[in-house]
Amino acid sequence: MTTSPNATSHKPGFARSVGRRQFLKSAAVAGAGLTILPSGVLAGPDAPSNKLNVALIGVGGRGRAHFGAVGGENVVALCDVNAPALAAAAKTFSDAKHYVDWRKCLEQKDIDAVVCSTTDHTHAFISNWALNRGMHVYCEKPLANCVNEARVVRANYLKNKDKVATQVGMQRRSSPNFDRVREAVLDGAVGTLKHAHVWGNRSHGQTAYLPAGGDPPAHLNYDLWIGPSPMHPYNSGYFGGCLRWNMYWDFGSWQVGDMGSHTMDLAWNAIDAGRATSAEAHGDPVNSDVAPSALTMTFEHPANDWRPAIKVSWYQGSHKPNNIDGVPTAPGHGALFAGDKACLVADFGRHEFFPRDKAAGMAHYKPRPAEERIPPIGGFQAQWVNACKGDLKTCSNFDYSGTMIEQLLLGLVAFRVGKKIQYDGTAGRVTNNADADALLSRKYREGWKLDG
Ligand SMILES: NC(=O)c1ccc[n+]([C@@H]2O[C@H](COP(=O)([O-])OP(=O)(O)OC[C@H]3O[C@@H](n4cnc5c(N)ncnc54)[C@H](O)[C@@H]3O)[C@@H](O)[C@H]2O)c1
Repeated sequence: MTTSPNATSHKPGFARSVGRRQFLKSAAVAGAGLTILPSGVLAGPDAPSNKLNVALIGVGGRGRAHFGAVGGENVVALCDVNAPALAAAAKTFSDAKHYVDWRKCLEQKDIDAVVCSTTDHTHAFISNWALNRGMHVYCEKPLANCVNEARVVRANYLKNKDKVATQVGMQRRSSPNFDRVREAVLDGAVGTLKHAHVWGNRSHGQTAYLPAGGDPPAHLNYDLWIGPSPMHPYNSGYFGGCLRWNMYWDFGSWQVGDMGSHTMDLAWNAIDAGRATSAEAHGDPVNSDVAPSALTMTFEHPANDWRPAIKVSWYQGSHKPNNIDGVPTAPGHGALFAGDKACLVADFGRHEFFPRDKAAGMAHYKPRPAEERIPPIGGFQAQWVNACKGDLKTCSNFDYSGTMIEQLLLGLVAFRVGKKIQYDGTAGRVTNNADADALLSRKYREGWKLDG
């Protein structure tokens, strides 16, 4: 784990902010009737003293989906590299200060919490910098763009987990179906679990970075959009939402980080996996500019205290299987849990059982009574906001989601070297392939620090 060389220079602000954050936590506990605060300080959860000071980084596109969730808090800072997006957000949050460079934004001393909705290649940077300043973080998925980024941001969170609440934007998890699937797998519906298969059907047809397309418009700070990645000539084709840029290695990981974050979560929530011990992958020809569209990745996971060692697979684009073990897969995105007694097929909202022995059916399994079910998490963004003010507990914190994205991005490393790789998750090393080991990290432009 690297510690921030810059952390000390932020200490005064950090101390002030932490004091305020501690107060918010106590205020929330007081709301639960456990602490007595001086009268007049707190008059319910909406009292000014019980509001978070929030910075929104990336306020166009997906960023707008968070306006409502933090609308009841104090939005004190807005940051975007695109001036019209900033101006539009300022209409909703008129008191907030404006920034183009997120590093400057995070210098603002009164920020308690950050929502990051920028391009994938900046997520781990912004999350680390915010954590290093004692801020709570909600980061859009995927949390990282390479294995090392996932590891650094997760380690940083673990160091700070008694002080901050984190959440990765895998909001489909708030569907109760995720926990019904977990209960079914845990309670033996598939028998002994052998293999979890997960898929997504999106494809792309890009083969190279876009050609130079003239000068960037004056309203866009293209240099900051590129940020830590190597420079590529401007082309307007990169703009207009994540499906315009996330297939290029320097900006994203295509569906592995995109829908993969949501759909692998269906499995991850049910299998209690730690780090994979191996990864192998195949798909489109390896391309130095773009991540593959057609892709199959398979990981090995050791046994845990309730199941034996299992395999986990991700299929993408034209590799999405139509059936697995003779069981039809759900259209679009979904997961199949294969056990010795049955298969369970799930998408985000539904699940269905396919017993191996049709005559015996599902007689071996009794769903839990309602009172023993995992309680609903409620609103996903609200869970984070409440956690920032309360017990810091969220379902998709940087430990859970960091481990998940570390695995998915490891699969892309195996894809790039075209070999089965063995992974030492404790050390963060590929042990049987030096080329693969070198691909766990990305190279950054001069002046950009991942953990600053
Ligand atoms: N959780 C979900 O369901 C969901 C849905 C869509 C997108 N996303 C995620 O949200 C993120 C943004 O996706 P999008 O489609 O909105 O992309 P986008 O290209 O529209 O970017 C969103 C905003 O961020 C700004 N931005 C980009 N880089 C920035 C930087 N370095 N500093 C400040 N502002 C910056 C852009 O100008 C834009 O206003 C992606 O990581 C994507 O995976 C999540």
